[in-house]
Amino acid sequence: MSPVDYSNNCSKATQFLSEYAEKDGLDVRSLMDSKTRGGLTYNDFLVLPGKINFPASQVSLESKLTKKITLKTPFVSSPMDTVTESTMAIHMALLGGIGIIHHNCTPDEQAEMVRQVKKYENGFINDPVVIGPDATVGEVKAMGQKFGFTSFPVTETGKIGGKLVGIVTSRDIQFHDNSESKVSEVMTTDLVTAEHGIDLTNGNEILTKSKKGKLPIVDKQGNLVSLLSRTDLQKNFDYPNASKSFQSKQLLCGAAIGTLEQDKERLIKLVDAGLDVVVVDSSQGNSIFQISIVKWIKATFPDLQVIGGNVVTREQTASLIEAGVDGLRIGMGSGSICITQEVMACGRPQGTAVYNVCEFASKFGVPCMADGGIQNIGHMVKALALGASTCMMGGMLAGTTESPGEYFFSEGKRLKTYRGMGSIEAMQQTSTNANASTSRYFSEGDKVLVAQGVSGSVIDKGSITKFIPYLYNGLQHSCQDIGVRSLDDLRESVGNGEIRFEFRTPSAQFEGGVHNLYSYEKRLHN
Ligand code: IMP
Repeated sequence: MSPVDYSNNCSKATQFLSEYAEKDGLDVRSLMDSKTRGGLTYNDFLVLPGKINFPASQVSLESKLTKKITLKTPFVSSPMDTVTESTMAIHMALLGGIGIIHHNCTPDEQAEMVRQVKKYENGFINDPVVIGPDATVGEVKAMGQKFGFTSFPVTETGKIGGKLVGIVTSRDIQFHDNSESKVSEVMTTDLVTAEHGIDLTNGNEILTKSKKGKLPIVDKQGNLVSLLSRTDLQKNFDYPNASKSFQSKQLLCGAAIGTLEQDKERLIKLVDAGLDVVVVDSSQGNSIFQISIVKWIKATFPDLQVIGGNVVTREQTASLIEAGVDGLRIGMGSGSICITQEVMACGRPQGTAVYNVCEFASKFGVPCMADGGIQNIGHMVKALALGASTCMMGGMLAGTTESPGEYFFSEGKRLKTYRGMGSIEAMQQTSTNANASTSRYFSEGDKVLVAQGVSGSVIDKGSITKFIPYLYNGLQHSCQDIGVRSLDDLRESVGNGEIRFEFRTPSAQFEGGVHNLYSYEKRLHN
């Protein structure tokens, strides 16, 4: 009890609080005391609100991916073959995050995906469909039906990089009855072009003035480099948060490799394609194979950033920090497609894993990524509050326009496949492709595949160009409620005990969800 009687002095309420009362809730150490409480995950606790004295739009979400790479947003897409190929990696980087390209493919295919990200220029079509002068009118008409557009640049080689000799458009072939005629006989050769290096604004201006549908971009020798399209003019957004390298201004790109000897050859190709950060992909990161490959990477490519993992304990973390990693990936058994904990009996509840690994790694300045089990913005905030710098998403990004794979319909729903990299389906693809990287879930020579993941489907989520801004704004609002202006502030205030937490009983969790409605529709953003 306070020695002073405050009952007639309401204006002193906050003073009373700071002088005499205990802080509400728990500090993070008490919350995460797994000796008394057991392992926790995101749904098991809440962050207590702080004071709002700034607009949400002022909250900075800048965060470190590795020792040397800082992103404007903490979003990372997972190296899974139903999540990240070049299209996802391009859009993740444009929106301020980064994509990690999967390695369930040949080294050349993976390197080509990295190259596509690195050479991407916003608004420019870098991989247009190109034809040669000997293609026939019939072939062009068929391509029009296949691709849904009817303008194709014509180069001597029939490929991008060849000398531009014309453009064939619907107007050139519409009333041309002889489908055997060569494109060279009908194509438009009176071309307006722009030189490679032109920026989007000037390119768009030339395109508008030319009244043409397409503006080919050529190098000094007249070889086709890319294309600007009138129909895309409206879509050429600005991306102020884009993750780019300082020197080249190219988008940042990550890729995963395994820990086998042949992964060294793979990495050489990826680095040649311009890779910025490599993720050593292993479900149990504390192995002599990973330690050895991390040391080799740091010795061979000192400028390449290396993320090691996965880890869930301080002991695993110490091994990889000592090997030289620049970042860590945390999670074992928490992924939405994962059956590792069930089959291997190994793993850790994700909240406890993130807290312990981050707490330890922060002493050595190694940023950490929370990987697996993130289902919503709240989970991200909690992962970041427990010390993570970035959040890796698989299931959240699967089923978006930018994820690999075709949509299909089942029971009236538009779906895409989402599968674990340790599912039988993914591992069988690996084992039939001798050049794919195999080591995350099985070893060379394994006769029986033991699944650690499942294959399923997820609902069409639309484009990440809407979804990532939703996550971004949601995170900003959450930080505002907590009373912090940046993710650095968040981690610091958790560390010094200012930000408080509350453990959630099962009935508290029930109360925190929608309840007692006859029906409802959960729309997350417009
Ligand atoms: P999600 O975001 O909850 O869907 O989890 C994605 C994460 O699950 C990935 O980033 C991987 O760390 C992990 N993962 C991917 N495939 C498998 C698998 O087959 N078994 C276990 N974990 C997996």
